[in-house]
Amino acid sequence: MFPNTHFPKASRYWHMGKFHDWSEAGFHPMMHALHYGTSVFEGIRAYGTARGPAVFRLTEHIDRLLLSAEVARMASPYTKDEIIEAIKRTIRENGQDSCYIRPLLFYSYGNLGLVPKACPVELTIATWEWGAYLGEKSENGVNVYIVPSRRVHHSQFNMAAKLGGVYVQSTICGLEARQQGFDEAVFLNMEGRVSEGPGQNIFIVRNGTLRTNERSESVLEGITRTSLLEIARDLGHKTEVGPITKEDFFGADEAFFCGTAVEVIPIISVTDGSEPGKKRHPVGPGKTGPVAREMMTAYREAVTGRTARYEKWLTFVRG
Ligand SMILES: Cc1ncc(COP(=O)(O)O)c(C=O)c1O
Repeated sequence: MFPNTHFPKASRYWHMGKFHDWSEAGFHPMMHALHYGTSVFEGIRAYGTARGPAVFRLTEHIDRLLLSAEVARMASPYTKDEIIEAIKRTIRENGQDSCYIRPLLFYSYGNLGLVPKACPVELTIATWEWGAYLGEKSENGVNVYIVPSRRVHHSQFNMAAKLGGVYVQSTICGLEARQQGFDEAVFLNMEGRVSEGPGQNIFIVRNGTLRTNERSESVLEGITRTSLLEIARDLGHKTEVGPITKEDFFGADEAFFCGTAVEVIPIISVTDGSEPGKKRHPVGPGKTGPVAREMMTAYREAVTGRTARYEKWLTFVRG
């Protein structure tokens, strides 16, 4: 039995075309993905709007899921349209108004050699209510810890893919930051510049200009990041895409995380775990700044269908 304690409002999940009760699972301990992280996944959110639940940038997320599958040399048993339809059905099946959506493609049970020659690729879709990813208080800003280990480099791995096994680095370093007493980790890249959080991109604000980095800095170029660049420009802000040095980060007027799970969360202090003394440096005045606040509001309005120009990003579940 699997209780849904940490998955509020989840009553059914989808697996290979069928719905199952949340508490019921039939996966074998020898399935390939469990041993080697041979899975690819997406993190997507649906929001309540005046026209019922709507999924934010669903097409882009499924394009990325299928790209991740390609990177993992995995043949998806479903097409993009079939996956989109199955996601809408799963939200309806659970009667959710807003939810987090997790499609997962994985090498299932067959053989256990590193090459999954006898393992079928399977797809599951789960949806549940997932509130503030870094906790309710995170809206007031989070304290981050630059972990001593460097981010997987873009020359080693296609950073556009969300491959289960590669997330082990995010899990370990996220745990390390919390064990050190911080809210979240930040990675530097192999070049020593700011890369990203374990599951978030980073923006800094300096003299009114928003700056975020790109793939060549060893980051996943997130869908939230891309949306915020457009929203910021529409709001009349100057934006830049390019490297963020440690000095840029420490000297920024403001900084914030962004991603599907965290949405937009201010970063109010940064500590470098490699520095002797591990001093906490406030970012700007050490509290949420006006640009982060404006972006939090504008993003929330966009995802909940309250800004007409961004309705193009919404897929209505009952439509
Ligand atoms: C490593 C990493 N960086 C950035 C992001 C933000 O991406 P998105 O905005 O597409 O959720 C994510 C989340 O998927 C992530 O896992």
